[in-house]
Amino acid sequence: MKAAVLDEFGSVDVMQVRDIPMPAIGAGQVLVEVYATNINPIDWKMREGTMAMRYGDDFPMILGWDCSGVVAEVGEGVTDFKVGDEVFARSDVSTGRCYAEFAELNTRTVVPKPSKLSHEEAASIPLVGLTAINGLRSCANLQPDQRVLVIGASGGVGTLAVQIAKNMGAHVTGVCSEKNMDLVASLGADAVIDYNKKDALQTGEPYDIVYDTVGVRTYEEARQALKTDGTYLTLVPVPNIDFFIPGQTEWEPGKGYFVAWTPTAADLQILADWINEGQLRPVIDSVFSLDEIKKAHLKSQTEHAVGKIVVKVRD
Ligand SMILES: NC(=O)c1ccc[n+]([C@@H]2O[C@H](COP(=O)([O-])OP(=O)(O)OC[C@H]3O[C@@H](n4cnc5c(N)ncnc54)[C@H](OP(=O)(O)O)[C@@H]3O)[C@@H](O)[C@H]2O)c1
Repeated sequence: MKAAVLDEFGSVDVMQVRDIPMPAIGAGQVLVEVYATNINPIDWKMREGTMAMRYGDDFPMILGWDCSGVVAEVGEGVTDFKVGDEVFARSDVSTGRCYAEFAELNTRTVVPKPSKLSHEEAASIPLVGLTAINGLRSCANLQPDQRVLVIGASGGVGTLAVQIAKNMGAHVTGVCSEKNMDLVASLGADAVIDYNKKDALQTGEPYDIVYDTVGVRTYEEARQALKTDGTYLTLVPVPNIDFFIPGQTEWEPGKGYFVAWTPTAADLQILADWINEGQLRPVIDSVFSLDEIKKAHLKSQTEHAVGKIVVKVRD
């Protein structure tokens, strides 16, 4: 099968699309014929070697955490899926391994693909959607009618955080640049602030939650815009906050957390249900082929994508 493979860490040029042996599946796994995957910033951070402490340095390495495709084989003990099922997933297998024509996936992070979406659209959802919902629900204990500020509202995580916060009953203010204001409003934001014109943390508006999805503000700055018991969330580690450890950390009011989470099919199913009910939609910046994976990484590295950069693996 064809895959985008790394043999060392480095620039985009270390990523080569070539033929490699088909992956084998074990008990509790499915082999998925990948129709589409997408780029998350963690992919190019891993490619550059800055995440090696966490994800290791076993080469050849195949990146890619998200996919949408069709079940091609089921492993021992798998009863929820059969060959031919359309699924989407956030891989929890080693380094992701979805930049490939086939991916082995643990069924605990696989659910039926929302029927409304194409494979390219479905592949854009899992990692960012799960980051958005886990941040708001688990790390910030979001309640209906609370006021949420989403910084980076036009990005991969931000476009879903705005919609998910609205689905959970919040009043949402999105922060983005002028060119993306209409998009963020169309996602349901009650107010939109252009970060080049106004400091969203200096409006006098007290927030229950500040979700800095792009890690551009300090905790101290955000604290000034939060109610005393309000929660600050960041996706990029900054000083003076706690690391939210799933299953161990209990949310406490008035704190700041680095959002960390464990992917589950149950959470992915919540996203799929919202999509099927018309309450959540993907935002696609661009679509590249697997052969164009280097271009797709370079686009993500601009850090100005609008929504998700998708990689179409097959027609
Ligand atoms: N902890 C976790 O589990 C986790 C999960 C997912 C992502 N992350 C991390 O979170 C970060 C964001 O991920 P992502 O996928 O959302 O990235 P992304 O899609 O690349 O974000 C791009 C967006 O950021 C916006 N942006 C850039 N500078 C901004 C600023 N100063 N103020 C407001 N918006 C700004 C851009 O809007 P404009 O073009 O309008 O500026 C663009 O729409 C990455 O560092 C990623 O590695 C962490």
